[in-house]
Amino acid sequence: MNKTYSIDALHQKVELAINALPLTKKPQELYEPIRYSLAMGGKRIRPVMLLASCNLFNDNVEDALNAAIGLEVFHNFTLLHDDIMDNAPLRRSKPTVHTKWNNNIAILAGDTMFVKASELVMQCDDSKLREVLETYHKTAIEVCEGQQLDMNFETINNVSIPQYIQMITLKTAVLVAASFKIGAILGGALPEDAENMYHFGKNLGIAFQLQDDILDVYGSPDKFGKQIGGDIISNKKTYLLLKALQIADRYKKEELANWIFAPKFDAIEKVQAVTEIYNYLNIRELAKKEFEKYYVQAFSYFDKVLVSEERKFEILSISRSLVGREE
Ligand code: IPE
Ligand code: IPE
Ligand code: MG
Ligand code: MG
Ligand code: MG
Repeated sequence: MNKTYSIDALHQKVELAINALPLTKKPQELYEPIRYSLAMGGKRIRPVMLLASCNLFNDNVEDALNAAIGLEVFHNFTLLHDDIMDNAPLRRSKPTVHTKWNNNIAILAGDTMFVKASELVMQCDDSKLREVLETYHKTAIEVCEGQQLDMNFETINNVSIPQYIQMITLKTAVLVAASFKIGAILGGALPEDAENMYHFGKNLGIAFQLQDDILDVYGSPDKFGKQIGGDIISNKKTYLLLKALQIADRYKKEELANWIFAPKFDAIEKVQAVTEIYNYLNIRELAKKEFEKYYVQAFSYFDKVLVSEERKFEILSISRSLVGREE
């Protein structure tokens, strides 16, 4: 009989495994922020997706659990450092690690989590270890490349939409892709199925980051849990800004440029003014269209994966739930 776990059941397995991580060590200044970061929730989409992907091909998901939480620890490490780089005050509706403690603490906690993540990822079947680690290491470096491009773009003013897509592919999408691929490898999938799962995840990940950029402007503060308008304040070259610059007439373009180049500004006023320009240009709808393009493309890869529709149901439902995400 086939054993297909529900997304809720997989989520529960992930939470239990994260709670069981041995993190009550000394010095407490190092481990407390790590516990804080891992205990403050989040959607846990990467580990759940890894397990769901494994479960597409295999009834047993237990052997993939360490790799799954390894990717979640890696993700949380990137958030600690990302929040320093983005000067972000809030994450999951709580103060970010670098504001609650300080930058040095957030850097070192992040470093430790990065190593811990590798340690967890490598706790998998020896016969699959090389392939899993190759995927993980390649992905980890690509995330750094994407983060560097994201920062470079803050001060570059002729970023194209394809360059933006490449940047979000690296900083966000490849980790979603790797979650699906590593899950597939550990589930014993055929190489072409593992590759299709990778491309499914990559396109879904691009859609996911587009949605995150939309929510950064239009999300509800409670559900999003992050500072609204953070991307506008730091001149992030999001799809919203690039599209606005592309379609605005010269007056609106000048207005946007004035905000981008303003050496000093009131943050609330800037967010409000730029949001009004976005509203005027209908940018939210245009960004949603771009989101849908990648979302649909994602499923063209999932359709190619050779497992029964019945077995695919849980992944379909978690992927769909990302569309209406408000956090
Ligand atoms: C935040 O990821 C970083 C992005 C890639 C947008 P999530 O939205 O998955 O963050 P949590 O873990 O659920 O808080
Ligand atoms: C997230 O990009 C990418 C990584 C953390 C690697 P963002 O900077 O948009 O993520 P949030 O919005 O802070 O979660
Ligand atoms: Mg950020
Ligand atoms: Mg960032
Ligand atoms: Mg964001």
